[in-house]
Amino acid sequence: MSNTLLAEVASRRTFAIISHPDAGKTTITEKVLLHGRAIQSAGTVKGRGSGQHAKSDWMEMEKERGISVTTSVMQFPYNSCLVNLLDTPGHEDFSEDTYRTLTAVDSCLMVIDAAKGVEDRTRKLMEVTRLRDTPIVTFMNKLDRDIRDPMELLDEVETELNILCAPITWPIGCGKLFKGVYHLHRDETILYQTGHGHTIQELRIVKGLDNPDLDAAVGSDFAEQLREELELVRGASNEFDKELFLSGELTPVYFGTALGNFGVDHMLDGLTEWAPAPMPRETSERTVEAGEDKFSGFVFKIQANMDPKHRDRIAFMRIVSGKYTQGMKMKHVRIGKTVNISDAVTFMAGDRERAEEAFAGDIIGLHNHGTIQIGDTFTQGEDLKFTGIPNFAPEMFRRIRLKDPLKQKQLLKGLVQLSEEGAVQVFRPLDTNDLIVGAVGVLQFEVVVARLKSEYNVEAIYEAVNVATARWVYCEDGRKLEEFKRKCSTNLALDGGDNLTYIAPTMVNLNLSMERYPDIQFAKTREH
Ligand code: G4P
Repeated sequence: MSNTLLAEVASRRTFAIISHPDAGKTTITEKVLLHGRAIQSAGTVKGRGSGQHAKSDWMEMEKERGISVTTSVMQFPYNSCLVNLLDTPGHEDFSEDTYRTLTAVDSCLMVIDAAKGVEDRTRKLMEVTRLRDTPIVTFMNKLDRDIRDPMELLDEVETELNILCAPITWPIGCGKLFKGVYHLHRDETILYQTGHGHTIQELRIVKGLDNPDLDAAVGSDFAEQLREELELVRGASNEFDKELFLSGELTPVYFGTALGNFGVDHMLDGLTEWAPAPMPRETSERTVEAGEDKFSGFVFKIQANMDPKHRDRIAFMRIVSGKYTQGMKMKHVRIGKTVNISDAVTFMAGDRERAEEAFAGDIIGLHNHGTIQIGDTFTQGEDLKFTGIPNFAPEMFRRIRLKDPLKQKQLLKGLVQLSEEGAVQVFRPLDTNDLIVGAVGVLQFEVVVARLKSEYNVEAIYEAVNVATARWVYCEDGRKLEEFKRKCSTNLALDGGDNLTYIAPTMVNLNLSMERYPDIQFAKTREH
């Protein structure tokens, strides 16, 4: 291991934001980029559909509905770190993408609307981060509004999400009377000023809790209340413990307002100081450490036509170890071929630039001409397969049919490609010529039809189909599997990757089959 490589790796922080829709993820992303000096003034992240940015039909759709369908990656320097922020789609229908993105990060920022507390989607996403014990930093947002009692919010996080809370900052007032936060580790009060939402504000700080300047700055009632509350907080809540944080058992908590651009920098200070540098990753062969000399990485997302002029598809790869240099040779392990990568892209603050070098923890984009699939591993020669990149059994199904029956081949090609990039799942029943599309959320269906039309020139429509749920089926005993296939062929299909799937008309039917065939494994998730 070379020292430069180790230093580069040690400076990386790769994280994603998890939150319930409307909690403020987009606004925080914008402020994070502002503090990372990646943008000049806030208000430029949303609605950047103009100019050089891509506008295919489905991106048009994204714009119209004001939701973010795509995952983007932003890199910026902060303190002495190089931070990679992976944006995840906020809309529930794209949760599969979100789940897979979470396999590519080393920590997460959980954003909570402090007026609402813990909400549904945060609960779900936290379950996912739990699978890998991902360290979590918490930001309680919207302090410029009337919020719930802060102590109660911490209690709710602790009991509902089963993670200990260690407040790092503590709020003084809220809503119109929001005065700022007291930083428990720095023993100082940082005062809030309104009207600085779009630029980095000059900090106004009062040192010490007993400083009379504090009474002057926030009013003696608030100062007194703060002193009392802090006594309670110090007695009743947990102190920050780095070990517990790294094992995902404790979260440092910050208070602020993303809209008012206040507190985001405190959170970033904590994240860059404590969040882990690129972590090791498991393969089916061995554990790969980030500091290893040899390059390795895995693909967690494929996105089509970011630039309609090029009609290209980009495979997002998380580098797990070593260093990428322009023009290097990599082994594409699944197909056993060595490829020359001359034109990978990085994502400096959202704009694509050619990556000359990149290190463990970074994300690079590979141009994909249909050979790369989600979950693929690339190495400098070793046969490794990174594990833990899931596919989820869809929960909604439709039969897809062509308006012009002569285009069956294009339709199948389009669907298989879209399923490779995880946009949708496709099932071909063993006994019929139907094509069944499965999705986790209803919006996926619309995206698929729009993309089939714009990218494959195929006009397709949906019909209802009698499928309620699907499970991937496995059996070690080949003979039993054959018998099962014979007896249940009407309920069996192949997915886009030719994996055998049981498509059940009802949950009752599924449960009966599971009872009847105890030797067959029915899996809700499948590893890519
Ligand atoms: P999301 O990506 O998590 O869905 O949330 P987003 O940042 O889009 O924020 C959702 C709404 O909450 C937006 O208002 C945004 O302005 C507001 N918001 C975010 N942070 C704060 C905050 O700290 N304080 C207050 N008061 N509001 C905040 P909107 O009206 O839905 O959208 P917009 O028209 O302002 O874009």
